[in-house]
Order: sequence, then C-alpha cells, then structure tokens
Amino acid sequence: MSFVQGLKCRECGQEYPKEPLHVCETCFGPLEIVYDYDRIKKSISREKILSRPNNLWRYRELLPIDGEPRAGLYSGFTPLVRAHRLGEVLGVKELYLKDDSVNHPTFSYKDRVVSVAISKAIEFGFDTVSCASTGNLANSVAAHAAKAGLNCYVFIPDGLEQGKIIGSAIYGPRTISIKGNYDDVNRLCSEIADKYGWAFVNVNLRPYYAEGAKTHGFEIAEQLGWKLPRHLVVASAGGTILPKLAKAFKEFKRVGLIEDGECKIYAAQAAGCDPMIQALKKGTDLISPVKPNTIASSIAIGNPADGYYVLQAVRESGGWGESVTDEEILDAIKLLARTEGIFTEPAGGTEVAVAKKLIQQGRIPRDESIVISITGNGYKTLEVVAHSVEKPFRIHAHLKDFDELYLQLTQPSAGKALAGEG
Ligand SMILES: Cc1ncc(COP(=O)(O)O)c(C=O)c1O
Ligand SMILES: [Zn+2]
Repeated sequence: MSFVQGLKCRECGQEYPKEPLHVCETCFGPLEIVYDYDRIKKSISREKILSRPNNLWRYRELLPIDGEPRAGLYSGFTPLVRAHRLGEVLGVKELYLKDDSVNHPTFSYKDRVVSVAISKAIEFGFDTVSCASTGNLANSVAAHAAKAGLNCYVFIPDGLEQGKIIGSAIYGPRTISIKGNYDDVNRLCSEIADKYGWAFVNVNLRPYYAEGAKTHGFEIAEQLGWKLPRHLVVASAGGTILPKLAKAFKEFKRVGLIEDGECKIYAAQAAGCDPMIQALKKGTDLISPVKPNTIASSIAIGNPADGYYVLQAVRESGGWGESVTDEEILDAIKLLARTEGIFTEPAGGTEVAVAKKLIQQGRIPRDESIVISITGNGYKTLEVVAHSVEKPFRIHAHLKDFDELYLQLTQPSAGKALAGEG
C-alpha cells in the first residue's frame, strides 16, 4: 500500500503525478514527494517498525514506493555507537556515532538513497540506471544495478581515489570519467538524462532518491529510544542528506512516533570546498559556487543542487556549520580510528573535525547529547592517509630479530644499546 499522493513543487506548490519528474515546469523549483500523513499516522507504530527486518524498509510508510521494495533489502540499520573514548577526547558527556561507513553493500550513506531510487526505477520500468557521482554514489548504483540485473552507466570526475573507481568497476557498469570536476559531471548528466531517458538516480529520480536519506535520521531516533539527539553534525555536499534529516525528525513527530524534541543540525564542509558555510557565515541565502580544492573528494561539490535547503534546515533547527582544513580532516580520521576503531574517509574526517571545532567554539555544549554522522568508509580512500601512518617494520623470520625490534619499540634506549652490542 502506498501513502504517496504525488509530487509537488517546493517553491510554487504546483502538483504533479507520481512520475520520473524532478523540476517544476512553471518555476523550475525542485519537486518533492507528498504523503498522506493522516493515513500514515493510523497505519504506522513503533511495534510495527520493531517487528520488521533490520533494514531501511522498516520505515516503508514514509518512503516513496508503491509496491514491495525491490532493492536494498540489506541496506540501512547501521550501528549507532556510543563513543566514550572519542567523547573523552572532545570533552563531551554523551556522544554517539551513526556509522554508515558499514552500510551494506558499498559502505556509505548512499546505499540508502540508492535503495529507494533503484526500487523506484524498477517500478517505473526503466532498464538502465545512471548517476553523476563523486564516487560513493557510483559504487552504490553499480552494486544495486548488478543485483537488480539493470544496465548501468556511472559518471565521475577525473582524479578520484582508486577505491572509488575500482569499487564501481567491479560490479560491471560502464564508468565514464569526465575531464573536469563534479559540477561539470552534473551539468553533462542533466543533458544525458534528457536525451537518453535513463533513470538517473540523482537527476530525474531525485525526489524519490533523496527520500532514502531520511532513514539515516529515522534510525538515529529509533536507536536513541525514540528520541532525538540535541545536536547532529553531518557533512553536506550536494545538499541531499542534511535537509532530509530535518524532514525525518519532523515526520516522526507528525506521525506520532516520537514526542516533541528539538535537534540542532550542523553542516560540515571542507575548507577547500565550503560554499554553504560561507553563505551561513555571511547570513545570506545565496550560495556562490566555488572551485573545489580538497582531499575530501566525495564532498567536493562547488555548486550544490540543494544548498538553499541546507541553509534553511540548519537555520530553522537552530544549528550552524563549520569548515575544516585538509590537515584537520586527516587528524580527525586518525583520531576516530584510534579512539573508536572506525576507519572513515575524508567526509567522515570532516564530520568529526567539524564537531570538534564546534565543541571547542562552545557552539555545541559539552553536556548535551551529540550525534556525529559517519557517512563513508576509509578503506576506499587509502591513498589519502597512506603517508601519515606508520610503515610496517620489516624483519627476518627470526625470533632474535623480533626480540631486538620489540626492545627498540618498548625501551628505545635499551634497544639501541642492544643493537650496539650486536
Ligand atoms: C561519504 C559522503 N558523505 C556525505 C556526502 C554529502 O552528501 P549530500 O550530497 O547528500 O550533501 C557525500 C556525497 O557524495 C558522501 O559521499
Ligand atoms: Zn514551481
């Protein structure tokens, strides 16, 4: 049973049928899904959700599919980790990590949006799926397309990390690398979507696709015992996930799954690509596009499609935003790994580093509940950290050699003396 009534323009309110449409013909505003919340409220309950499998479809009444889910049956329901050791370093009392670095099957938050988009593409009868991506989305579209038996073309900018490139190619799509940055890729994909009529998950299926991001927020609320955190820090690039987290929290209240409660949402960007943070700090609604220059390639989007809605959601929630340097991002990747045993990519490093900065600034108080979203996995971006971790010690397979090394590592002066004797 579907609770979707249709699509509606976010700007002028014009209504559209449930079709693969994404912009308003009248004002070019983005289209959004319209649900029948009164009916959802009567149908959904905590018990019903708890009785369902641990995947993102447990919130299916609030997702835009008409029939049964066709993809993503193992996606979502990632851990919400209580982070005692990182919390101690940051000097905060109640810290959690929403760990989408272990989302199934391609280890980023994108498996959520793609699960919904591919389900919808199958409902609409498309045989070819596609996307414009900074890497993670391409990985996810390629994997889900393989499982669904769909043709797949993914478009990425030149210069991505090997893990992101091979992490798509292995599933057998056609990968097209564009000589340019993500914003060039995105522009080209709009033209290709028009001409070829494929299901571009983040172009013509964008209204459906974006709804999948809400499940990251639904899960946080459920995993906190049907409560909102007081503060949530998340990376923002194209602007999909952040406003959808705000929407998720509103919807949970609207349909009676949680009581009132307010969560301040904070946008995290890399200093080398922070158009939204610049706009936030200037107090303007206008986002001036930038040319990205950062190691955080997955969030290097200089001209964000939904940037305006990020600013709106941040401001409405009473949150804020910050950007951090590449050095701070690297330090935060290591800090997270060494305190919590979670290896994230630069997007996650940005999320941790920005949280740290906002706590130090006093923007986020130390005695209230805080969730940091970890939206991607570090095993895909090894080259980013390769030069800043200890190299293995190479020795022969002789116990004596290890004895010597161990002494050097644990008692450097004795170790040297021993080495000197030998
Ligand atoms: C790992 C990771 N985190 C966060 C984001 C930001 O997402 P959004 O485009 O929804 O703002 C992306 C986008 O590509 C990403 O790959
Ligand atoms: Zn409109």
